[in-house]
Amino acid sequence: MRTRLTVSAAAGALALLLSVPASASAAAQAGPGAPGIGDPYYPTAGNGGYDVSHYDIRLKYQPATDDLEGTTTILATAGQDLTRFNLDFVLKVNEVLVNGRPAGFAATGEHELEITPARVIPKGSPITVVVRYADRPGTVLRGGVSGWLRTPDGGIAANEPEGAAWWYPSNDHPTDKATFDVSVLVPDGTQVISNGTSTQSSRAGWTRYNYRQTKPQATYLATVAIGKFDIRTDTTPGGLPVITAYSRDLGDNAGAAQASVERTGELVDWLSGRFGPYPFGTVGGYVPNVPTGYALETQGQIFYSPAQFARGANTSVVVHELAHQWYGDSVSVRRWSDIWLNEGFARYSQWLWSEHENEGTAQELADYVYNLYPADNVFWTIKPGDPGPDQQFAGAVYDRGAVAVQALRNAVGDEKFFRILKGWPTERRYGNATVQDFQAYAERISGKPLAELFNTWLFTPSKPAAGSAGVAAPGTAKPSLTPRAAADAQPEPKSWKKIQETNTVHEHKG
Ligand code: TRP
Ligand code: ZN
Repeated sequence: MRTRLTVSAAAGALALLLSVPASASAAAQAGPGAPGIGDPYYPTAGNGGYDVSHYDIRLKYQPATDDLEGTTTILATAGQDLTRFNLDFVLKVNEVLVNGRPAGFAATGEHELEITPARVIPKGSPITVVVRYADRPGTVLRGGVSGWLRTPDGGIAANEPEGAAWWYPSNDHPTDKATFDVSVLVPDGTQVISNGTSTQSSRAGWTRYNYRQTKPQATYLATVAIGKFDIRTDTTPGGLPVITAYSRDLGDNAGAAQASVERTGELVDWLSGRFGPYPFGTVGGYVPNVPTGYALETQGQIFYSPAQFARGANTSVVVHELAHQWYGDSVSVRRWSDIWLNEGFARYSQWLWSEHENEGTAQELADYVYNLYPADNVFWTIKPGDPGPDQQFAGAVYDRGAVAVQALRNAVGDEKFFRILKGWPTERRYGNATVQDFQAYAERISGKPLAELFNTWLFTPSKPAAGSAGVAAPGTAKPSLTPRAAADAQPEPKSWKKIQETNTVHEHKG
């Protein structure tokens, strides 16, 4: 009885304890939105307290001086009674209006713009934020780096995971997707590239480019490129608009760049056969005059680097970035630790393309990766399923990540595997997901428990045993050789070097 009483008293106390914070927060709920959205890798990325539905970004840019003037209007909904909220932004702000009234603002932390509206915004009500700003984005550094790429003829925003803050204020996290209008005024003779469909108008020496993205888009997948471009428009046989653009200063790389990127329509059709219908209203890519060596899957309008075409055409990189339109852009990470859902599959799609081109099967590529790195190589210390913020784009996330996809294929068989590959982007279209969500989906479709396979290939910081899930199975190497000699003797798949040209090591500002 006594014990019983104690138990029920404890239960009562527990109920009270649980209800206290709830009712207390209901009473005193009005407060500031959190300065981060809660991503363990990037604690101050994104913000709490509101949800964005649309960005209207209106810019004027002077290529000669890097002077950027902007007015961004954000449509959002309050998720709590808000006394204050943050946007992620690094440029110099002149004025902020919230629901038509001047609001207080202050730059805090690495990239926070703290906004205090004139009155509390009630939970559930719409918020219109207007931010007016002017700066030279190439001169604004965080950790010694600018997220704005200055070029001889203009500037470019294309960065991951964080680059938006150098050209527009936002809730900078993939879980808060929105539609976008981007309008840029530039001097006649300069062109502008951004996401989606476009119109333009000219007046008194200035041209205005208006771009519109009507499908949900993560903030890091919005891009703008200003410079001297040749822009081409076309449509795929299926009627999808294709927009490609090339800097007029690509020099010796111009032919190889065009011979690769002009195959976008054909390659997007090929990928649609594997991943299901293309998720966006336009497709394309641009090759600016930049010294970088990487590409970025900016939504419907991919950023490439001329260096990727310096050794001739490279359709493999186009396949990689197009694959991201399904794996990364339409279905996006829930947390940045879920990056394998992007890079493991984009790399694997290059292996499928290699297989299709008779330049090495995915199995051969997986075996090759397995044998390339001995057990004591740092390669195997990286867990593709949780690589850590510093190793988010390490080679192992791509290559070991793709081996993990091949392991899944071997475990469930081709029929189930290709059903998973196509079903996942359809089921999760325009959403966010975790690695665990994907595992659950693959288990549902295949009817097989996959915890051990995922654990072995994605979450173990050491080299899995040869033969695990059919990777480097006995018999794939010549049996008469020692394992080491067999690895040495394994021929490099014909596609290997081109695949590795997708991502040359680069510095990134987190
Ligand atoms: N997601 C890019 C790819 O694999 C690679 C990448 C990571 C990147 N961080 C970046 C590209 C920053 C440009 C800028 O295709
Ligand atoms: Zn990628």
